[in-house]
Amino acid sequence: MKGIILSGGTGSRLYPSTISISKQLIPIYDKPMIYYSLSVLLMSGIKDILLITNREYVGQYKKLLGDGSAIGINIEYKVQEKPRGIAEAFILGEEFIGDDEVCLILGDNIFYGQGFQDCIDLAVSKKGKARIFGYPVTNPKSFGVVEFDKNNKVLSIEEKPENPKSNYAVPGLYFYDNSVVEKAKRVKPSSRGELEISTINDMYLQEGNLDVVLLGRGLAWLDTGTPKGLLQASDFVSIIQERQGLYIACIEEIAWRNDWINDEQLEKIGRKLEKTDYGQYILKLLDFGDKSKRKNK
Ligand code: DAU
Repeated sequence: MKGIILSGGTGSRLYPSTISISKQLIPIYDKPMIYYSLSVLLMSGIKDILLITNREYVGQYKKLLGDGSAIGINIEYKVQEKPRGIAEAFILGEEFIGDDEVCLILGDNIFYGQGFQDCIDLAVSKKGKARIFGYPVTNPKSFGVVEFDKNNKVLSIEEKPENPKSNYAVPGLYFYDNSVVEKAKRVKPSSRGELEISTINDMYLQEGNLDVVLLGRGLAWLDTGTPKGLLQASDFVSIIQERQGLYIACIEEIAWRNDWINDEQLEKIGRKLEKTDYGQYILKLLDFGDKSKRKNK
């Protein structure tokens, strides 16, 4: 399976902070926002990743992540000239996707919590369909919204509905079979002029090929759309990390636990970052010789 991180957009809701840098590069507590979405792809076992962003920001991402080889993965880059909509990711990524299945994650989405690894393992294992998620929110009007009947059968998917038919939003994490590329080409711009991801999800629904996994109470899907949301997300990460001593979205740790890099490679990265708690955390991982601690769960 291939992975795409969509990391463009204007970031205008966070101006002036995002006038000169990409929104998804601003820090959430101790690491760039993009680490959180990248970590979800790594936890899904995905090593081939396409990062799509604006022309002016490609250099910034390359400086941060390079070709991915430092953590044993392959990262390619593609420019989205204008924010024409999330579904455009599959048109821009057509060649990269080839004949594979694909997982798309939005670069500003943060997930954390009990059972999340199991949810993505399930989504990866089911093939030949669309696998998306539903998450209860208090402000469904701001999202793609999924409606169910009493047997949890999906009835509709709507993008930012005036009158939401449920309080289940669709988070920015989507697993698709290869037909998503051809479907994306058939999407017509919405009234806000975008190629909507909800249109693709509706196409799968009409075919009877849409699976929606409901994310439970124990899971956090955090908002990074406003200054307040950023502060709350940073607080959340800091509290969990300090309490448990386990880091959220440490991409080097996940790559190491996946056996994509060895102890020496991990140590080299840790040494480079050793002036920070993040670097110290990486170095400490090597003290746990016990293989059973090498699980991402
Ligand atoms: O976060 C989940 C929601 O994301 C879903 O529930 C909605 O169905 C989906 O449409 C989307 O809604 P938003 O209104 O939040 O999308 P937004 O325009 O803010 O874009 C989400 C991220 O994707 C943002 O970081 C910028 C990036 N993006 C967006 C568009 C439209 C791009 O890189 N290129 C684009 O063309």
